[in-house]
This record gives sequence, structure tokens and C-alpha cells, in this order.
Amino acid sequence: MTRLLVRRTILLPRIRRRPTRGTGGRHCFSSLADLEADALLVDARKAPKSWQSSAAVVYRNVVTEEQASVISEEILGQRMRRRRYEKGHWDSVITDYREMELYDIHELVEAMENEPDPNIQASDVQTTIAKAFWKIRNHLQQNHATSTSTKWLPCHAIDLKQDGQLSAHVDSVRFSGHMVAGLSLLSPAIMRLKEDQESDQFVDLCLPPRSLYVLTGVGRYEYSHELLPDGSTFCSPPGDPIIVSREQRLSIIFRDAKEEE
Ligand code: OGA
Ligand code: MN
Repeated sequence: MTRLLVRRTILLPRIRRRPTRGTGGRHCFSSLADLEADALLVDARKAPKSWQSSAAVVYRNVVTEEQASVISEEILGQRMRRRRYEKGHWDSVITDYREMELYDIHELVEAMENEPDPNIQASDVQTTIAKAFWKIRNHLQQNHATSTSTKWLPCHAIDLKQDGQLSAHVDSVRFSGHMVAGLSLLSPAIMRLKEDQESDQFVDLCLPPRSLYVLTGVGRYEYSHELLPDGSTFCSPPGDPIIVSREQRLSIIFRDAKEEE
């Protein structure tokens, strides 16, 4: 039996303040209300019997091209610019990557959620990113939340090199709640979910740039997730298999905070 790794959410917690409760979106930006999950981006034909289709869904185009380039330029071109890629240890879940948490954006999104805070000064770039994240959070709240006022952790950005690996793991349950969602930028990728590492049963998600995947329920707690290497094949249920070139990929992970016991 292979040991299933747990991916620890590192860096957390730094924010002293407790995560605030959202109001479910009083703000007046146009929302992602019409967004529907794209079933063609999920291949569950080899899924185990325990699989539930709501446990992993993928939405296309959750940010505009312009928002996508503002986010990736700000994170890769500015914030991570001087950071070296981390190799990871021999048993790490992830190799050849850089990561950081976006505390300032978190504060701004929280402020948008509540009353606009005149004390928060933000650049145009920060505001653009915060608005895009606010919409995603709002969509998650409306479609995937179990509580009417989800508390959120700061978003986490991960830059994975083309040859970097993200191997099978379940996200730590220490701080993070029932929902793990990821915005994919720059490169497509295939995410594989498995209940049993020894078995050949799996569920594959195709993640085009600007898409959002959402793992909940068994998809969050019972199945591991991993990214397949560059050049792996995705079989869209009715269509021909496609080979997915995975290049440098930036992902933004949205997690709700664990409910207090
Ligand atoms: C993680 C993870 C997936 C992604 O950081 O735990 O699974 O989309 N990331 O980057
Ligand atoms: Mn993970």
C-alpha cells in the first residue's frame, strides 16, 4: 500500500485577525451567475462506484483574458520575480515550484464583501485582482458552500514549472474546510483524482487556462488529486483523446476556513 501524502498548507496562518464572515455578496459587480460547469471537462468513465459527479466540477472562463494577464503579470512578473524555484524534498508532494499567499488581496476582497473601507489604499492592479477573486468567491458561495456565510482563507498562488510535479495527495484538513477550488492560468493541465492509489480507476479533469475546478465532498476528502505530466492524454467523454501540453502553470487556490468545532 503506498502511503498517501498530505499536502500541508504552508505559510498559514499569518493573519492574526480571524477570517471574517462574508455576507454572501452585497456588492454590485456583475457576477458569474450564468456560469455552468462544463461536463465535457470531466472524464469519469473509469470512476469507482463511490464517485459522485458533484464532487469535482470544472467551469470555463471564470476570468477574462485581461484579468488573467493582470493576475499572472502581477504574481509572476512582480511578486515572485526574485524568488527561486523550490526543488522539494525527496518525499514532497510538489517539486519545482514557487508559492505565496495573497494576504493583501484577501483583505481587499473582505473589504468589498463588507462596507468599502476608506482606510484601505489599493492600486488598480490590486483592485482588478480583488474584483476577479471576489466574483469567484461569490460563485463558490452560491454554488458549493454548506454554510450561508463561508469564512475564507487567503488565496494561495502556485507557480509550477513545466517539469514540476504535483503528486497524489489530499489537502491538509488542519485549517482548510470542505471546499478546494483552483483557478488555472497560463497553461492547461490534467488533474487526476483517485480513491485508491493501487487501483486503475480514476476521474480526470481537464483544466484549460482561465478555468476553475472545485473539489468538495469525496473529491476533497476521500480522493487524492495530482497533476499529470506534460503530454498526458485527456479523453473527453464523447470526443477524441487530446494530448495536453503542460507548460509553466500558475494556479490560484481558494479554500474555505475549517469550521470551528
Ligand atoms: C495544492 C494543489 C493544485 C493546483 O496546492 O494542494 O493541489 O491546481 N494544487 O495547483
Ligand atoms: Mn492539493
